[in-house]
Amino acid sequence: MNVILFGPPGAGKGTQAQFIVERFGIPQISTGDMLRAAVKAQSPLGVAAKSIMDAGGLVSDEIVLGLVKERISEPDCRDGFILDGFPRTTPQADALTSLLKGLGKHIDHVISLDVDSAEIVQRLSGRRTCPACGKGYHVAYDAPKVAGICDACGSALVQRNDDRVETVQNRLEVYRQQTSPLKEYFEQRGLMRHIDGNGTIQDIQGQICSLLKGNAGDRP
Ligand code: AP5
Repeated sequence: MNVILFGPPGAGKGTQAQFIVERFGIPQISTGDMLRAAVKAQSPLGVAAKSIMDAGGLVSDEIVLGLVKERISEPDCRDGFILDGFPRTTPQADALTSLLKGLGKHIDHVISLDVDSAEIVQRLSGRRTCPACGKGYHVAYDAPKVAGICDACGSALVQRNDDRVETVQNRLEVYRQQTSPLKEYFEQRGLMRHIDGNGTIQDIQGQICSLLKGNAGDRP
């Protein structure tokens, strides 16, 4: 089962990807997480990506495609994967289609988490992340047991650089201009599944579960 989680910044892609990993046992491929790991490691790729990410822009298609190609070919992706934050441009979507064709695979579902803009700003301003294990939280909607501390590994939680209000506005604009046209791209290919992403985390988990359990493996 090969799934794309699609939606604007803060729609809940990472949150729901964690759920799908646990529920369906397929790995999450998050280009944002891979890029943040490269930034943390101060690799040449990370150094090139950092200022673009901090400003809320998109890293070059070439860099992102290189990361995805390598990751998707690993053995744990053999029986399926969840793409989170990729593709984000039409060239990325075209390259993914060619890549999968070469591997004898295809996308089964593109799940679009449809969330109102005001809700997105609330979610991103309250997001906190564990820098050690990557687990995500929200100060009000998905709070850790002890404020500011990761439930899973006990590390101090941090706020992402790109979650500052002015950067969030830029990320939303980049999404509108460069990523939202992909809705039409996937609609035309019969792959798009819309989910109302404004509900609680548990509501959305239920909707995703029904969709994936009911349709796993069926290609429209
Ligand atoms: P990336 O990390 O992919 O960021 P994003 O797409 O902007 O998505 P987010 O991680 O901000 O949000 P999310 O949808 O995962 O929401 P989350 O689950 O955390 O990319 C970062 C940057 O990397 C990009 O700006 C770009 O520079 C670069 N990049 C990455 N991929 C690229 C690509 N393909 N091409 C080029 N550049 C690329 O939820 C948000 C918050 O809301 C959390 O606090 C969560 O607890 C809370 N929450 C979630 N669901 C709910 C709910 N139902 N109710 C209440 N709260 C909720």
